[in-house]
This record gives sequence, C-alpha cells and structure tokens, in this order.
Amino acid sequence: MVIYSLPRYQDFEHKIDGKKTHLFILRNRTGMQVAFTDYGARIVSILVPDKAGNLRDVLLGFNSIHDYLQADEQYHGATIGRFANRIAHGSFQLDGEKYTLQQNNGRNSLHGGATGFHTKVWDRRTSFKNKIDFCYISPDGEEGFPGNLKVTVTYELTENNEISIKYLAETDKKTVINLTNHAYFNLDGEGHGDVLDHILHIPADHFLPIDEHQIPIDQPVPVEGTLFDFRSPKRLSTDITKDDEQLRRGNGYDHTLVNNQPFSKIAASAFSPHSGIRLEVLTTEPGIQLYTGNFLSGKDIGKSGRPYPSRSAFCFETQHYPNSPNNPHFPSVVLEPGDRWESETIYRFCIKKEM
Ligand code: GLA
Repeated sequence: MVIYSLPRYQDFEHKIDGKKTHLFILRNRTGMQVAFTDYGARIVSILVPDKAGNLRDVLLGFNSIHDYLQADEQYHGATIGRFANRIAHGSFQLDGEKYTLQQNNGRNSLHGGATGFHTKVWDRRTSFKNKIDFCYISPDGEEGFPGNLKVTVTYELTENNEISIKYLAETDKKTVINLTNHAYFNLDGEGHGDVLDHILHIPADHFLPIDEHQIPIDQPVPVEGTLFDFRSPKRLSTDITKDDEQLRRGNGYDHTLVNNQPFSKIAASAFSPHSGIRLEVLTTEPGIQLYTGNFLSGKDIGKSGRPYPSRSAFCFETQHYPNSPNNPHFPSVVLEPGDRWESETIYRFCIKKEM
C-alpha cells in the first residue's frame, strides 16, 4: 500500500523564462489536500480519502518542476489554451482573415501549440484560504492567435470536497478561445495500474465521431447503439478493446460527448469499486472530451515512483468542441472585445459503496 503525500515546496522553486515558479497548497476540513503550481496554472496533486479513510492521490503528476519540464506528456493537470484540443490544418478564418497556427499534432494544431498556456508561468494574483487565482496575458499573435488575451483561472477547494475551476478571459481584438484543464485521474491513486475497472456514467445522448486525423466529422450523432453510450453506468473495460472504427481512430476513447446537463446537474461521473472514490463533474461547457490516456507511453515516472503507461488514467476535459473555429454549426468559440469569456467546471469527490 502506497502512502501518498504532497510534493515539497522547495522542489517547485525554479525559474522558467526568468519567472519564478512555486507550489501552492489548499486544504479543507474534511482532509482533502490539493496542490497547484503556477507553471501552466496546473493542478499537481489531489489527495482525497478513500473508503478506508486513507488518502489517495487521484491525479497523475510529478514531484518537481524539473520532472514536469522533462516529462514525455506535457499536459498533466495543466490549463490548456488558447485553444483546447485540435484545429484542423492549423488554420481558421475570422472575418475573412486567415490565421495560421503551428501544426504540432500531425497536420493539426493541438492544445494551443507547442508553447501553449501549459508552458507559461502564470502570475498568482490573489489568494484566500480556500482559493487561488492565476493570471496570464497572452500577447497578440502568440502561437498565431489574434488579440491580447487576458486570462484568469480561479481554483477553489470547498468543504464539500469540490475543486471549482473558473475561467475568465477578455480580448482587445476578435479571437477564438477554448479553455480546459488536462487533469489525468486514476481513482485508485496515481501509479496504481490501469483505469479499466472504473465505472463511468455520462448522460450524454450524442457524441462527435472523428476522422482519421481525430477531427470531428460533422454534427453530433446519437450514442444509442454505439460504444459511446455511457447513459447507464458502464465499466471502461466493457467496450474499449472492441473492434470499432471510432475507437481505432482515437486509439481508445478520445472523443467529445455532448453535455446535455445544466450546470446544477452531474455531466459525467466515474467510480472505482476498489477505492470507493467517485468523481462527479459539473460544467457550463457544451462538451466533455473523454480521453482514456491512450497516448501515455509509460516513459514518465510519476509522484510515487511508478510509470504511467497507456490507460493508467482518464480525463474528463470540459470544453467547447474540437475544431470549432472551422465548423459554423458548433457552439461559438469567438470572443469579441468588450465581452467576457466565462466558464466553470467542478470536480467533486465522494465515497460510495457502489456507482
Ligand atoms: C487530448 C487529446 C488527445 C491527446 C491528449 C494529450 O485529450 O484529445 O488526443 O492529445 O489531449 O496527450
């Protein structure tokens, strides 16, 4: 049995592009402890009690900035922007003007480009006992996107074992935006084998099928009769190895499920029968990218000294749909000067006997 603990402050004291990095910790009265760093405005650790009362760190990640900088997988727990997920051919048009982005994923632009928000040292603006604000100003033209974009991400740890993430953004020029957090969860604890025994429950009636470049083909299609139907609780292992064109294209689940729930209702949940820990997700976003860590290579050694192979975690990335700038039928990702981009996601943890 692994005894999980938080990383040490001193292992996050570093300098990147002339800016100092740090570790921050929030705790609540029920014993939950969450660590963050300003490098990528990212979550580093989430310690929650399991059904036996032992703390488990349910988030994949590393013990030092050095390890984050060396990692094979760049996105662990990070804020993703300016545009989460893929933009086909690394280009889009706004008011007739063409914008060209770096193609860092085959011919797509992925997660805001190679120097996306996950690589920036954010400013910590204010801190309260249970809250932390990170702020970043992305200059006009950064990674090819128009407008000076001011972004604030506020994390709050509640007494109800919730991590709330609020995003706020403003621009001085018409632009596109899609923000998410790339938390990799394993509800048995990071480094604790694969997540195939986890039971998922997602009320989505529709999902977005993808082409061979992992770009949504067109409109959402019903999950009915597909392997993407999680409307009744389903073990991840049930369908993930089935011979299916969509799963082949994603190398597993790497698809947007269309969120049909209001912010007050659970949009997705996952449960591990071993730890008894359940994660519930509430969001204002129209989509949830269900990603089963298919591209995790096993090269990264995590916080408790164990490797992170494929399927050793899953992500519920709450966001707008991939490639939205090139699809007029998708919910708009355009942000105008004078408007505010506001979005909120809650990751809530609880203990259950069964799903
Ligand atoms: C998202 C994408 C995946 C992959 C990961 C990061 O979940 O949809 O295809 O790029 O991020 O490795």
